[in-house]
Parts: sequence; structure tokens; C-alpha cells
Amino acid sequence: MIDQGAQALVKAARGAAKHAHAPYSKFAVGAAVLLDDGTVVTGTNFENASYGISLCAETVALGTVNAQGKLRNVVAIAVIGGRMDHADTAPISPCGRCRQIINEAAQLAGRDLPVFCAGAAGDEISAHMLSDLLPHAFGPADLGIR
Ligand code: THU
Repeated sequence: MIDQGAQALVKAARGAAKHAHAPYSKFAVGAAVLLDDGTVVTGTNFENASYGISLCAETVALGTVNAQGKLRNVVAIAVIGGRMDHADTAPISPCGRCRQIINEAAQLAGRDLPVFCAGAAGDEISAHMLSDLLPHAFGPADLGIR
């Protein structure tokens, strides 16, 4: 069951995706990170003419959370995406690098994180725990950082 909080987070991610800079892939992604004080921090994918250095939406959002000194305050993340000018409804899923970056916040926060995923259009939301998306994760705890 997807509650209203998750739906609101997905909506925030959907709003952010409108600002995606994705002229190369034409695949717009938005991410929204919920903090424990109710604040939502968003990000979009930020592509580059040098394709390989493009940034994913989750990375941009969590980089902003970090700039606010709030990595330990993350409680959930939503990610939506799909091809521009297509009504893609299938939920997307964070790429492997983004899972590792989400894990940095999860371990510092000391909690597993729900990851709500949606397509660019439609109402379908799939909910996963980060520990299911990235089992046996390597993270700050392995380096003695808490
Ligand atoms: N992308 C994200 O922003 N997040 C992901 O988890 C998967 C992929 C972006 C990268 C690139 O700009 C576009 O989607 C197509 O791969």
C-alpha cells in the first residue's frame, strides 16, 4: 500500500523532472528526498555534452542534501523517469551507482530507506527498501564511519 506521503514525494520528483537537462538521452528523471523534518530536496538528471560525466537525478538531490549537512536526516527517496514526449508509465529503478550513493545516506542515517519508483506518467508506484535494491552493501560502516 502506497500512502499519501509516498505519493507526495513522487509528485515532488515528478515536478523536478520537468527541469531535467537531458538533451542527449531525452530521458527525464526527477528525484525527491524526504528529510526527518518533513523537508523535501529535489534533483534532476544533469547531462553533459561530454556524455560520460552526466549526473543522475538521485545523485544531484543527495548532493544538495549533503550541502545542507543533512545526509543523516534522510528518511525516504522517490525517483521517477521516462522518455520525454512519451507517456512512459512503467516505474524506473535507480541505477547501480545511485543505489550506492543512496546507501551512503542510509548508513549515515542508521536506517534502511524506502525507495519509491514511478514512471514519467501514470499512477503506478513501486516501493522497495534500499537493502533489497542493494543487498550486502559496502558503505561508511565498513570504514568505521558512523
Ligand atoms: N538516470 C538517472 O538520473 N537516474 C537513474 O537512476 C538512472 C538514469 C539518467 C541518466 C541519464 O541522464 C538518463 O537517465 C538516461 O540514462
